[in-house]
Amino acid sequence: MTSRTLILGIETSCDETAAAVVARNADGKGEILSNVVLSQLKDHAPYGGVVPEIAARAHVNHLDRLIAQAMSESGLDYSELDGVAATAGPGLLGGVIVGLTMAKAIALASGKPLIAVNHLEGHALTARLLQHVEFPYLLLLISGGHTQFQVVEGVGKYHRLGTTIDDALGEAFDKVAKLLGLGYPGGPQVEQLARRGNPQRFDLPRPLKGRKDCNFSFSGLKTAAREVVNNLGSLTDQDVADVCASFEAAVAETMADRLKMAVHLFRAAHPDVENPALIVAGGVAANQKLKSVFERAAAVHGLQLIVPPAKLCTDNAAMIAWAGAERLALGLTDDLGAPARARWPLDAAQAPVYGSGKLGGKA
Ligand code: KG4
Ligand code: ZN
Repeated sequence: MTSRTLILGIETSCDETAAAVVARNADGKGEILSNVVLSQLKDHAPYGGVVPEIAARAHVNHLDRLIAQAMSESGLDYSELDGVAATAGPGLLGGVIVGLTMAKAIALASGKPLIAVNHLEGHALTARLLQHVEFPYLLLLISGGHTQFQVVEGVGKYHRLGTTIDDALGEAFDKVAKLLGLGYPGGPQVEQLARRGNPQRFDLPRPLKGRKDCNFSFSGLKTAAREVVNNLGSLTDQDVADVCASFEAAVAETMADRLKMAVHLFRAAHPDVENPALIVAGGVAANQKLKSVFERAAAVHGLQLIVPPAKLCTDNAAMIAWAGAERLALGLTDDLGAPARARWPLDAAQAPVYGSGKLGGKA
């Protein structure tokens, strides 16, 4: 292996078909040589959520072409790669099998090692692709399928501090959007409408606020929003905006509280780390109101806040290639029998919690 490691990454665990080539230099610096993502959003929008069979078929239809494009944009030949990485879970099993099988075939044909990557590890390590970030750091993953705090202690070394005990945060945004008659995915629309709404009009709950752990719960908040909507009957544009703003305000206050607890737990476990990094990843990290909550918390608690650009926060293959590169640098490779897994918690030692990695849910 040369001092520069070149990895092809493949991501097919949900509704994005993605391929990317990433380089990792000997000093640990990363570089994205290509990053191709095909969103299936339009295919699933009529159903108000991701349909697993449609997703798996779309991956089959598009993956070859996307890999060819990623390789061509990188300017590399397969023989120049050092490894092939693919998401092996958690996610929709049909889709995971498509990407992982393709990676195995390429690894076999080119004689390169396979790296079976945990999708969540991809999110967890993305920040290190962009800049030097020391372990340990605090990760907040907020996506359509996951809402959790992890202490990232090293590659493959995670300690979960807290997780949702029911809905994921993105899922809550999507459900509130649905009950307001907005399209899927709902998060961006809720955010946009909230800007002209009154966040104080409806007094929605701040779930688990003040609790001494840093778990999350969003199903009660969603139910409270549904009651408000039902009581209003027919909704004016202002009603819709006010529900969005009130919901977003409840989420923001909850996140600030949960983050305070997470920082407390992190500091107790790692008192020697002066200015720990807080990495926020997942689609919900694009929300500007939440970003301002994280900025304020970072200033108050002395954290170095890193929110990777949206393109790398949402599902992509560059993060999978990078996790593959980090693993390969430590000699961590997988054999061709590596299984596709619908469920695969990052921190296997922690007790499973309902909602912490739902079977077949978005990752
Ligand atoms: O990470 P992601 O792209 O996909 C996975 O879940 O893997 O996250 C998608 C989720 C959706 O639930 C979407 O509604 C939410 O992220 N989202 C947002 C925003 N943009 C995307 N939620 C709130 N505000 C946003 N601006
Ligand atoms: Zn994801």
